[in-house]
Amino acid sequence: MKDIVDNRRHISLGKKLSLAWLIVKENGIIWCAAFATYYLASAVGARAFKLMDHIRRRDGVPGMNSRALNKAIWEAWDWQAGGEEWTPNEAWKTGIIEHVLRGYMPQGGQVLEIGPGGGRWTGELIQRADGLLGVDISASCVEVCAEKFGSTGKAKFVVGSGNDLSGVPDRSMDALWSFDVFVHINQAEVERYADEFRRVFKPGAVGIIHHGSVGGGLGGWRSNLTHEAMLDLLKKRGFEIVASFKEFTHAGVTHQTGLYEDVVTVFRQPA
Ligand SMILES: C[S@@+](CC[C@H](N)C(=O)[O-])C[C@H]1O[C@@H](n2cnc3c(N)ncnc32)[C@H](O)[C@@H]1O
Repeated sequence: MKDIVDNRRHISLGKKLSLAWLIVKENGIIWCAAFATYYLASAVGARAFKLMDHIRRRDGVPGMNSRALNKAIWEAWDWQAGGEEWTPNEAWKTGIIEHVLRGYMPQGGQVLEIGPGGGRWTGELIQRADGLLGVDISASCVEVCAEKFGSTGKAKFVVGSGNDLSGVPDRSMDALWSFDVFVHINQAEVERYADEFRRVFKPGAVGIIHHGSVGGGLGGWRSNLTHEAMLDLLKKRGFEIVASFKEFTHAGVTHQTGLYEDVVTVFRQPA
């Protein structure tokens, strides 16, 4: 039916009327009223999205991605599912762990995880690390993770400001992991975090960040960060880009790193 709606300008009025009559005859008034409401609401929704995107680009409003909103949303979140609500299937998660996490994270060393949430990746990171520091803007995530992983004796979780790593010593981290977090952080805050990575990374340390690529233009509550901007801001600070990809192949299956054209970027502090 979408084709008919998209091509309505090419259909004559007479044909449109007989088509409308046929639709009513075959489906009844109530179905047709629901059908009309659906298409009207979809059209209004698409225009509203364009307007939101336009205002955001024109006026620089933060959308849903300010630090205050991220804190409020993620402190209100129900973490019982541990973040697995964002795992599309087991093969994808296994692929992310085996191809991305184990493929690029060094074995051992001190690991920084930004935005551990309910700890979807934290257990795997702790197993490989000598020590892990989880920094999350949400106090409830810190509580959940401290309870889940405190007994390992290797992990510590703290509430962060959402754009800096105050309290983390200079040149103390061997690796950084952050998944499904920077997709929600606007560029200005990402720039501040990147300054901090430069400060807290040891020479040769590796960062792996999952982030958006189209500045929020495809929805999905993504931030205004684009793929180009992410690569530029990392290079400007002297990081080497190791890899940057939207999809990967594991066990013969190609997976997307995330929805909405998300990207995983791997970068390194020069040795
Ligand atoms: C969608 S959840 C992802 C959680 C986990 N990384 C996962 O993949 O399941 C987003 C997480 O990022 C955290 N977060 C959002 N903005 C942040 C910021 N500016 N700094 C640190 N953490 C942030 C939230 O509190 C939440 O834990």
